[in-house]
Amino acid sequence: MFFVHPQIKLNRENLKRIFFSFLGKSDFVSLKKKLSLMFTEKQLVFTDMGRSAFKIIVEKLNLQNSQIIMPAYICDIFYPILKQYNIKPIFLDIDLNTFNVNPDKISQSVTPQTKAILVAHTYGLPVDMERIKEIKGPIIIEDCAHTFGARYQNEFVGNFGQASFFSLYKQFPTFRGGLLICPNNWDINLSKTSFNTRDFISFLNSFPFFSFLFKTFGEKAAEKMPRKEKTLKPSALNSVSLNFFSYFLEDYEEPLRRRIALALFFQEELKKLGLLVQESTNNVFCYLSALVPKELEGKRDELVKKLRREGVFCTRMWNTSRTIILNPDVQQEYNIDLNEFPNTVEAANRVINFPLQNHYTKKDIEKIIQAIKKVLTKL
Ligand SMILES: Cc1ncc(COP(=O)(O)O)c(C=O)c1O
Repeated sequence: MFFVHPQIKLNRENLKRIFFSFLGKSDFVSLKKKLSLMFTEKQLVFTDMGRSAFKIIVEKLNLQNSQIIMPAYICDIFYPILKQYNIKPIFLDIDLNTFNVNPDKISQSVTPQTKAILVAHTYGLPVDMERIKEIKGPIIIEDCAHTFGARYQNEFVGNFGQASFFSLYKQFPTFRGGLLICPNNWDINLSKTSFNTRDFISFLNSFPFFSFLFKTFGEKAAEKMPRKEKTLKPSALNSVSLNFFSYFLEDYEEPLRRRIALALFFQEELKKLGLLVQESTNNVFCYLSALVPKELEGKRDELVKKLRREGVFCTRMWNTSRTIILNPDVQQEYNIDLNEFPNTVEAANRVINFPLQNHYTKKDIEKIIQAIKKVLTKL
């Protein structure tokens, strides 16, 4: 069975990591040292979720009651935050080859009222930061939720913005976790949190047997879980999740290289089947996303359902119920005219995220492709 979210392969090394994550303490000095090499002269703060890191950024940069430019194709978890801080979003349509907003479009949309720009490196593909750097005036915030380890011109993403944030559990088998990258002089004190039931369920979800059970019998509840993280006040990351991140970060470079090589092979196979794949330069493929052929747009959900029967569990991120501008409340609140966002609407209708794990082999990808071929011929 193949899943999209990070899975833990059961081998001796990983069993040790699990054991010590629950019962021991990881070496935080080495962890910080390693991260400081990636993000020099920055403060690193672990938060319970990526969205908490974003809230801290909003507060520290005084973005309350201001205007922010952001992608129209992004998760609607941002909506409650925009409301909470009375931030007016200027949504921009995406490019279908990158799933990112074209930097030219961003610079053309800046007005004297624009206080900040949220630059999202969607699915793992860094935005052209050279062109973003040319935009003078607004504060640049990098949303690196999908791009841990990605580089742009040899510099790790997360270093370009005045502040940046990551969402650790999307790329590592940890059960929650955000990482805020910000100036050293920000004074941040977060309350402690503990590993809870939701985290334990997420831990079980790292293994195919439980993932299968949850996907088959608890899909609705599972989908709501991360969205229901209602902690209004950002808090610190619990030590178990931090340990998991720390242990799986130890040797992440080599698995990441393997992942990228597999993703490139996967993309070539998908192209042969008529899918439109994301640009690959500098992409770390947190999500291997593609658009189903135009003529199958209405059958995307059926494809996903049928692939499950073949053991291939794809996701649809972000489908129409998750894309921020397609949320009915967002449309009403900000007077959204969907005609201005043709690509975002199209992506929401055609996107599909395929399973990809760092420990997969080429054979695994071939099995997934065989399943896709089989299902496509029957659609
Ligand atoms: C692009 C993007 N930014 C930010 C977030 C928020 O991250 P987290 O779920 O860790 O709060 C998400 C995920 O929901 C995301 O996909």
